[in-house]
Amino acid sequence: MDIATTPTNPEGNPELADAARTPHQPPVILREYYRPFGWLLPEVKLDFDLGITRTRVRAELTVQRNARADRADVIRLNGDGLKPVSVTVDGAATDWSMDGADLMVPLHGDSHLIVVETEIDPAANTQLMGLYASNGMLCTQCEAEGFRRITFFADRPDVLSTYTVRMAGEKAAFPILLCNGNRVAEGDNADGTHWAEWHDPWPKPSYLFALVAGDLVANSKPFTTVSGREVECNVWVRAEDLARTDHAVESLHRSMKWDEDVFGREYDLDLYNIVAVSDFNMGAMENKGLNVFNTKYVLADPDTATDGDFDAVEGVIAHEYFHNWSGNRVTCRDWFQLSLKEGFTVLRDQLFSQDMRGEAVKRIEDVRILRAAQFPEDAGPLAHPIRPDSYREISNFYTATVYNKGAEVIRMMRSMVGVERFRAGTDLYFDRHDGEAATCEDFVRAIEDGAGIDLAQFRRWYAQAGTPRVTVREAVAGDSLVLTLKQHVPATPGQPDKQPMPIPLRVAVHSRLGALGAEQLIVLAQAEQSFTLPLAGPDPVVSINRGFTAPVVIDRALVRDDLVFLAAQDDDPSARSEALQELAVSHLVGTASGELSAGERGAGEAAIIGAFAASLADGALDDAMRGELMLLPSETYLFEVMATGERKADPGAIHTAREGLKAAIGTALADALQALHTRAAAVALDDPAGRGARKIKTIALSLIAAANPARAATLAAQQYDAADNMTDRQGALMVLTGLDCREREERLASFYQRYKGNDLVIDKWFTLQALSLHPDVIAHVRKLAEHPDFTMKNPNRVRSLHMAFAGNPKGFHAADGEGYRMVADVILALDPINPQTAARFVPSLGRWRRIEPGRAALMKAELERIMAAGNLSRDTFEQVSRSLD
Ligand code: ARG
Ligand code: ZN
Repeated sequence: MDIATTPTNPEGNPELADAARTPHQPPVILREYYRPFGWLLPEVKLDFDLGITRTRVRAELTVQRNARADRADVIRLNGDGLKPVSVTVDGAATDWSMDGADLMVPLHGDSHLIVVETEIDPAANTQLMGLYASNGMLCTQCEAEGFRRITFFADRPDVLSTYTVRMAGEKAAFPILLCNGNRVAEGDNADGTHWAEWHDPWPKPSYLFALVAGDLVANSKPFTTVSGREVECNVWVRAEDLARTDHAVESLHRSMKWDEDVFGREYDLDLYNIVAVSDFNMGAMENKGLNVFNTKYVLADPDTATDGDFDAVEGVIAHEYFHNWSGNRVTCRDWFQLSLKEGFTVLRDQLFSQDMRGEAVKRIEDVRILRAAQFPEDAGPLAHPIRPDSYREISNFYTATVYNKGAEVIRMMRSMVGVERFRAGTDLYFDRHDGEAATCEDFVRAIEDGAGIDLAQFRRWYAQAGTPRVTVREAVAGDSLVLTLKQHVPATPGQPDKQPMPIPLRVAVHSRLGALGAEQLIVLAQAEQSFTLPLAGPDPVVSINRGFTAPVVIDRALVRDDLVFLAAQDDDPSARSEALQELAVSHLVGTASGELSAGERGAGEAAIIGAFAASLADGALDDAMRGELMLLPSETYLFEVMATGERKADPGAIHTAREGLKAAIGTALADALQALHTRAAAVALDDPAGRGARKIKTIALSLIAAANPARAATLAAQQYDAADNMTDRQGALMVLTGLDCREREERLASFYQRYKGNDLVIDKWFTLQALSLHPDVIAHVRKLAEHPDFTMKNPNRVRSLHMAFAGNPKGFHAADGEGYRMVADVILALDPINPQTAARFVPSLGRWRRIEPGRAALMKAELERIMAAGNLSRDTFEQVSRSLD
């Protein structure tokens, strides 16, 4: 269906107010229909009488006519599954009505006081949006539209209010009562209940509201801001988790300091609370002064968390902290502007992590995520611009495009103007829009004005979906090289024709004889454009998109030897890694598609093995970077490359080719890999080189496993038994679960026994088995879904088993369609419980058009089966229907 033909006005259409589960098609909401709300709600007073199965909410809303909006003599207060217990206006009964799930209250004067009482059941809230129960505590998630599940409200980000909240509940069950802002009063009642009153001085939209009540303890450490103010920083967890919170607290302090130093942003309250909850749909949430986090991004110690987990905790803590300015002080006018806060905040957290851990490896990791998650999205039925034009359910737009491509787009602006001018631009943005609900356009204009750059054409990056392809031609003319670049932005749903966009590319022209050329930034702005660059010597080799300055695909016919040269010699680390990836991609896609002759295959394999040998021997590399150079492109990315033009991806052939290459490398470099493993195994846990050593240890093991499973089983079991940290233990177990051997069952059982009751680690136990290369993986997953520790009610557990399986290219793409059927069954079973999480499974099936016809038909049939089941949530309906269009 063409969504553009069914416009809906968010203010006027009664259908919009229907509960999430609608028998008919949920309406489409359009960006161009934005209108300011008819009323201002400067002050909100909430009173909560808390209980796990029954919570009463009394809301006092001060409302004033909005002079900047069209006159309305009725106010629409959004609700979702709520029934009003009582409604008064200025203390008197009123003639309210319901319009779908929304409350309509007639108002004839210019300012009024509306009081509404509602009653909700947090324990029954399995969607985990609004107020819900988790492990005996009560917590909230309001972004994007969860506040309307707590009380009736103008639940849109451009309505900013000052909140005063009183909460009361049983002291034994809820000894800790937290809300946004500062605690202003508290007290005990005679009946065993107690209460607290909180006030948040900063006006905020409802999506930033949060409340927590539970039996929690804090790891507390004050931070002194640049202007000398002391901030109480608390990380709240259950008592048994307290020992695993130091890393979170330290990460918060580092983030606070970094935002002062790098973006000039100081924290603005005397209190910063983070609460870890085990039932959470996403990673974390930046509620003002009271972040609510998935435990996965708080708890970490070496025995239970990998080095990657430590990095993720640091990155997410930073991300939510940075939202205090990019998101909270300056928020979004409407949800189409989501990338305004998310793209910018992702860029900020990436830059922070680069500064903490080293730029090269972090940049390569971020590019790998972009390729594996965002490029496929941009090439499929769910492609959308970073600022979408329409949606049915906003939860479906918390995507790799809005977040990660959004960050890349802002990173390009920064690359074009340089770090200092970019800072002038962001300073102007924060100054100009502090306290406002802004748009992406406001951001671009502030960068233009503050940094002094014309971004007129650049704005197309916000409007056009699809990953641009840049084709490269080279010609030597005298002592210069003429680079002719052509750009093409592919058609995406609803956008058949695209305009050229400015594409900033860092380039250098090296000489194959060894001289490295100087780097410069060129901007490809036209459909086709030539650039003249100086030669560094004979036999030029072009190094392009260095540092991955632009989120594009570079299309060029590079000679194998040139790639080998770049992989070993380029002075830009990400260009080295890119060259190796390019070498592997062309070999693997050529092999899988049968387009390479036996001779070419042999030569390609030899070149890759040579490049790996060079990385192994290169004494100037640290192990963290060496590890990056030893990672082959993911199967998901290889599908994308294979599926170009008329050619479809063949998951089976890709898998065989990739495993074949791993085996060839493992065989040819057996001694060197063994030596590497032995060297790395001797590095101690707290050695500064330990991180890199742990990384290459497991990479070496997995290459050995492809070549010599018996040898790998012995080595992996040794690594497992000797491990004094989770990185080594999980790495060894990952290799073992892919092998059909005795060591596999023993170590899986011992891992389970050792960590029984530790949810986050048991999640790993599920994931390792769901992701495994084992031939019986589907049977294993079926059995694990019956395990007493498995539950559909906990999103981390669902992701650890089923989402991991959907990302297992071998199991998911089993030729008989069994993997597809299993995932479709999960979507159908999960949709009534947690639609947001259910809908996140749809994209895996949605890629059917790019897959070979046999599997494509099976995938499509599963999507049709879901659609036919009817009574789908808005979330799942939107994703499935777009995937079938
Ligand atoms: N703003 C949060 C973050 O990026 C994500 C919240 C998403 N919530 C949702 N229900 N989709 O940090
Ligand atoms: Zn965010």
